[in-house]
Amino acid sequence: MSTPHPLTHPGTDLLRGKRVLVTGVLTPKSIAYAIAAASQRAGAEVLLTSFGRAMSLTRRSAQRLSPPPEVLEMDVTDGTQVDAAAARVRETWGGIDGVVHAIGFAPEDCLGGNFLAAPWSSVATAFEVSTYSMRTLAAAFSPLMAATGSLVTLTFDARVAWPLYDWMGPAKAALEAVVRYLARDLGRRGVRVNALAAGPLETIAARSIPGFETLKSSWKLQAPLGWNSADAGPVADAAVFLLSDLSRAITGEMLHVDGGYHSQGAPLIEVVEAAES
Ligand SMILES: NC(=O)c1ccc[n+]([C@@H]2O[C@H](COP(=O)([O-])OP(=O)(O)OC[C@H]3O[C@@H](n4cnc5c(N)ncnc54)[C@H](O)[C@@H]3O)[C@@H](O)[C@H]2O)c1
Repeated sequence: MSTPHPLTHPGTDLLRGKRVLVTGVLTPKSIAYAIAAASQRAGAEVLLTSFGRAMSLTRRSAQRLSPPPEVLEMDVTDGTQVDAAAARVRETWGGIDGVVHAIGFAPEDCLGGNFLAAPWSSVATAFEVSTYSMRTLAAAFSPLMAATGSLVTLTFDARVAWPLYDWMGPAKAALEAVVRYLARDLGRRGVRVNALAAGPLETIAARSIPGFETLKSSWKLQAPLGWNSADAGPVADAAVFLLSDLSRAITGEMLHVDGGYHSQGAPLIEVVEAAES
């Protein structure tokens, strides 16, 4: 469970008056759940979205938020549901200030060391759900945004290849590019588009990534600040920053919230030796 940081305790008001749609809450361990909770603590009004059989799980998670947000049904691959969710947002709020895209999925044969064998049909699903959906959300919700609107997505730093992450890697690399192109096209209206590159966090989606445990251990060794993969709080606080006016001149950016892992070429020898002894 995430530990609230003082920055997003009630009374900080960074998102006072902001209306934020958060996708991707499944369980209280979801990164999106931590973002929804931190946004509420910072004063935002929040709506959630979910889809299909996940709806009941999301509704249960929503009950733990204060106040419990309404959950809209929105499968990002279903244009009718996306349009209906946008209509509901317009009806509820009149407009919107922030959208959090926390959606990712790849069929099993896209992960786990099967890179050369994965069929296009599975790869296409991974790209449609994990990458193209960012464009779908931008197209549906940015027209409801005034200048200072903010779209935030979540990636797993795809500038490099990772063991076993396979086709989620190219899907995330394309998502990072989509962020830059959306930043180009929406910037003239004042709308910002950014990505958070999170370190490994224990969520349902992470469970389906083979080798996740090894990734977690390598983070512990290499991140100068250390890394707690049970705490999505630091990622949530960075999301609050990107949704707030404090980030008003930042767009097309990928902000690492990974304990500094990305800045190091390899773990410090003495840290490795200490872990081995
Ligand atoms: N967990 C990590 O280590 C980690 C690290 C970096 C980035 N991320 C990214 O963070 C995002 C959130 O994942 P998470 O780790 O919190 O896991 P999660 O399983 O809690 O969330 C994934 C969400 O995607 C939603 N989803 C899948 N298909 C969908 C569809 N067709 N329509 C609408 N929603 C759909 C699921 O309902 C779920 O809520 C993902 O993009 C993931 O790739 C995760």
